[in-house]
Amino acid sequence: MSTALNGKPLLKTVLGERQDRPPVWIMRQAGRYLPEYRETRAKASTFLDLCYNPKLATEVTLQPLRRFDLDAAILFSDILVIPDALGQKVGFETGEGPRLDPLGVEGISTLKPEGVVAALAPVLETVSDVKAELAPEKTLIGFCGSPWTVATYMIGGRGTTDQAPARLFALRHPDAFKALMDVLVEASIDYLVAQFRAGADVVQLFESWALNLDEAAFRSQVIEPNARIVAGVRAQVPDAPIIGFPRGAAGMIAAYAEATQVNAIGLDYSMPTGFADSVLPRTLGVQGNLDPLRLVAGGEQMEIRAREIVAGFAGRPHIFNLGHGIVPETPIDHVARLIDIVKGR
Ligand code: CP3
Repeated sequence: MSTALNGKPLLKTVLGERQDRPPVWIMRQAGRYLPEYRETRAKASTFLDLCYNPKLATEVTLQPLRRFDLDAAILFSDILVIPDALGQKVGFETGEGPRLDPLGVEGISTLKPEGVVAALAPVLETVSDVKAELAPEKTLIGFCGSPWTVATYMIGGRGTTDQAPARLFALRHPDAFKALMDVLVEASIDYLVAQFRAGADVVQLFESWALNLDEAAFRSQVIEPNARIVAGVRAQVPDAPIIGFPRGAAGMIAAYAEATQVNAIGLDYSMPTGFADSVLPRTLGVQGNLDPLRLVAGGEQMEIRAREIVAGFAGRPHIFNLGHGIVPETPIDHVARLIDIVKGR
């Protein structure tokens, strides 16, 4: 690993080594704001067919790096391939997001964690194909959804504004909920270990629905399963570099970082730079955290805020990113401008 590490500024930052200029990648950097993505997307019949087609998924993964001076490629896939691989069918309605048959208490025993790696073989093939084509200074990021976030879709059957179906399920059926989290922890460990073996340099845990939880629920539903995944992956891939992204963790951010032992932590755009800087250990890398709508609007407000973020994290390892995924209406020239600012141009 050490020779590969020499030339990868983003991986080095994850491992705690600050760079003069923050390396940068963008959550959802391969997506509908790119015309070349829309063109490739049209060649697959469904969104999941695109995720399960190594040739098309490799192409889409590499597209943003051809256009922009990004420091990382992120595997093109989705967090919901895990429920799909577990046997809960996932569909995507165009423009409406994911749809699943909501999982009830009885459904949990029918899930098959042992088959996940085999079912996701095409995604793992994409990882190795991307790795083979990627320039040596670029970092390859793999990922999975964290158990709580994935469970909100499995139980709710779709995205919800407050995750009420899954929160109620956890309160009303604690044993069944625990069994579901155990399945997801086990499947996620196997899947992430397989991504590392296929060539991922670092993985990110997307806990996109870490918000709307009280302290006790945050500890048991977010911190505990994420900590088990980090430990479980590192038991098989020693020192595996891991970024945690607990979106909306707010006052729980330091507890998350400490208990999970992630190498770097993704900050959403509502997290004040000064607060994060004061509660997180100096050696811990942070990633973020521009509001994606500032990138849509562009111009001076974006430049000012981007520079504030760079300055706000000047005293620690920092990876520049948005505070959540890029949205389809983002103008491409705003993305290029943002990257220039971060790179000091
Ligand atoms: O960052 C990347 O470029 C890698 C690819 C990636 C996608 N989804 C592609 C995608 C990643 C890392 C994800 C993660 C993901 N997926 C999350 C966690 C991050 C976040 O944004 O909070 C979540 C919650 C999902 C579930 C999901 N997938 C939703 C809610 C949707 C629909 C919303 C939307 O934007 O349409 C998707 C679909 C999806 N995943 C698209 C892409 C490019 C759009 C589908 C299309 O092309 O029609």
